[in-house]
Amino acid sequence: MNCTEQKGQKYLGKVYLVGAGPGDPGLMTLKGKSLLECADVVIYDALVSPAILAMINPQAEKINAGKRMGRHSLLQEETTSLLMEKAQDNAIVVRLKGGDPFIFGRGGEEMAELVEAGVSVEVVPGITSGIAAPAYAGIPLTHRLYSSSVTFVTGHEAAGKYRPTVNWQAIAHGSETIVIYMGIHNLPYIVEQLSTAGLSLETPIALVRWGTRPDQEELIGKLGTIIEQVEKTGFGAPAIAVIGQVVNMHSILSECRPV
Ligand SMILES: C[S@@+](CC[C@H](N)C(=O)[O-])C[C@H]1O[C@@H](n2cnc3c(N)ncnc32)[C@H](O)[C@@H]1O
Repeated sequence: MNCTEQKGQKYLGKVYLVGAGPGDPGLMTLKGKSLLECADVVIYDALVSPAILAMINPQAEKINAGKRMGRHSLLQEETTSLLMEKAQDNAIVVRLKGGDPFIFGRGGEEMAELVEAGVSVEVVPGITSGIAAPAYAGIPLTHRLYSSSVTFVTGHEAAGKYRPTVNWQAIAHGSETIVIYMGIHNLPYIVEQLSTAGLSLETPIALVRWGTRPDQEELIGKLGTIIEQVEKTGFGAPAIAVIGQVVNMHSILSECRPV
């Protein structure tokens, strides 16, 4: 992409919601990379890898939305107002999010608010960690013998939430592979819910932490053993959990992991 052309009148004051992928810079899209190289302002999330941040135009203003004003993160309204403010004076404003902006990334909410405010906005999808982290661990989410359906679900909902929106009973039986984002802290609750729903404690499960990055780690077990394994190893977030027979492919395919 030519930066001068990109900054022509047509794109003035436009916000791009760009997916940074899971970490490996080779998994960034060409479109996303070009936008980072031309950006005037980049507002990025905590999980975006240093290798991707290194692609940003050195002249661009860089704002970490994960650490600002001494707080853990910007409130959603603050992020949206900041995007609006920056779009007033800058041609290319990139909102850079880990993985894909529309998969558990609040991209839909942010985009709707910008559209409502009359800001020109476009999404640039990224490779989501729920696909890439298992792939780099040698786990295909579908397989002709083991799985013809996949569910992506958030594990972030706390036990005892007033009105849980994740129906674990349905999730347990809805597909042959279950991919859980943000599920590590809540894993005991999730395992309990799935086993109460009838999923065998022998069901294979894999946890993949910092997937596609040089420090990727994996923990392979069964629903009935994984909590103890996590406790023993101190395995932590951010990680993707994959549940289902496809996890058994790890023993064959993990030998061929990308380098
Ligand atoms: C708020 S969600 C964002 C998901 C992101 N939009 C995506 O498409 O991958 C954050 C969660 O994504 C997962 N995640 C993100 N990057 C990851 C990575 N490189 N390896 C493993 N899990 C990752 C973790 O479950 C983490 O808690």
